[in-house]
Order: sequence, then structure tokens, then C-alpha cells
Amino acid sequence: MKTLAILSRKGGTGKTTVSLHLAMGAWLAGKGVLLADCDRQGSAQEWRRERKIGGPVVFSTKTPALFATQQAAQRAGRDLMIIDTSPSAGEDLADAVRCADYCLMVLRPSFLDVRAIRETAELVARFGKRGAFVINQAPPRRAGREMVCVGDTVAQLSNLGRPVTPIGLRARIAYQSAVAAGRSVQEIAPHSAAALEVGGLWREVEAQLWPTADQVAPGGARS
Ligand SMILES: Nc1ncnc2c1ncn2[C@@H]1O[C@H](COP(=O)(O)OP(=O)(O)OP(=O)(O)O)[C@@H](O)[C@H]1O
Ligand SMILES: [Mg+2]
Repeated sequence: MKTLAILSRKGGTGKTTVSLHLAMGAWLAGKGVLLADCDRQGSAQEWRRERKIGGPVVFSTKTPALFATQQAAQRAGRDLMIIDTSPSAGEDLADAVRCADYCLMVLRPSFLDVRAIRETAELVARFGKRGAFVINQAPPRRAGREMVCVGDTVAQLSNLGRPVTPIGLRARIAYQSAVAAGRSVQEIAPHSAAALEVGGLWREVEAQLWPTADQVAPGGARS
């Protein structure tokens, strides 16, 4: 079983939106998924309650219990545990990173988000974990051109020693509507731009978690 931690100390960056869309991406691809909701707000649980049909298991837990949750998920034969963290600092985040095979650090394309994510990147590095930044809520391109804030964010992140995922999620009402209905954008409109983004992000994460032989560089290094 692999464990993916979704991190950012800043509130409202999109941790839960990314967590549950990746959980759904994995579930739609046939994986057994546990989404560990470590946020007392219980947003992932709210989404699961709205979902009246099958889907990923969502389990509320506290970060000190994550290791036990991980063991139980492994015994239950799950393929993937995704940890949706709370917008907190300190030990909570460290507990999640400790359990993770791969860390996704979620931020919006803004100066303050970049500043806030630096400590998270340092924490991931301190634990020697692999990971990447994912830009969420990027404004749509105008006339095919990326907005300046996105380019600036990518440039600033390039100093932090981790890659930016080639596919992020744009700011789209489709994400909000899907979550409110207990669904994912991939279910509601499989050919939409949002669904293509989520599918692409899931495939990128999947390749990091389960690299094929030709994706592993000599020496075993991955980002
Ligand atoms: N890509 C997106 N497009 C449009 N709206 C989004 C997107 N991602 C998140 N949102 C909206 O932004 C708000 C915050 O998102 P979300 O709850 O996923 O963030 P969070 O980081 O989990 O927040 P918290 O820190 O409170 O746990 C929500 O209203 C959500 O619907
Ligand atoms: Mg959340």
C-alpha cells in the first residue's frame, strides 16, 4: 500500500478538493482507497456523506493515530491511503509527512501562498520524503496565455528544490459543484477540462507512487 499526503499550512488552498478528487481518480481506476480525514472540520467526511453511492472510504482520524490507521488500511488490503491534512502547523503536519511515500504540497498562485509553503517544503525535505508542488485555483489562460501570477509562482517555486506537477487544477466552478453533490468532476462531466486536469494529475501521482521500471532513474531517484 502507498500513502500520499496532501499538505499546506495555509487554509483554503484546496487540500480537500485535491484529496477527494485524487481519491476518486484512484477509485475510478480500480484502486482500493482510504481517505484519512485529519481535519476537525471534517470536510472530506461531509463530501462522503453527500455521496450516496460507492466510492473511497473516508475515515476521520487524528494525526498521532495515522500510523495505526495506515497499518489497518494495509491489513484491509487497500492500495492507497490519502491523507487530507488540516491547515495547521507543527506536529500534525510532521505526523502526516512521516507516514507518506509521496507528498503533494498544494498552493494557489500567489506570493503569500508561496511564502507559506516554504516551511512545508523544508519539512518534507527534513524527513527525506519525495514530493511536488501542485498549483490549485490557477486562473484560466487568457487568449492561450498563462497569467503572470502563475509564471511568477512557478519561478519562485523553482528555488525550493521540488518540482511543480505539470498539471495543476484551474479555478473552476465545476469543482465546487461536484464536491457539493458528493461527486467528482470526472463523474459529472468526464470530457470536461476539469476532468482532464484531474485525470492528468492522478496519472502523474500514480507514476510517482508506482513507477514502472523505465521511469526509475539509475540509482532509484525520483522527484
Ligand atoms: N480548483 C478550484 N476551483 C474552484 N474552487 C476551488 C478549487 N479548489 C478549491 N476550491 C474552493 O476553495 C475553497 C477551499 O477549498 P478546500 O476546502 O478544498 O481547501 P482546503 O485547503 O482543504 O481548506 P482548509 O484549509 O479549510 O482545510 C472551497 O470553497 C472550494 O470549493
Ligand atoms: Mg480541507
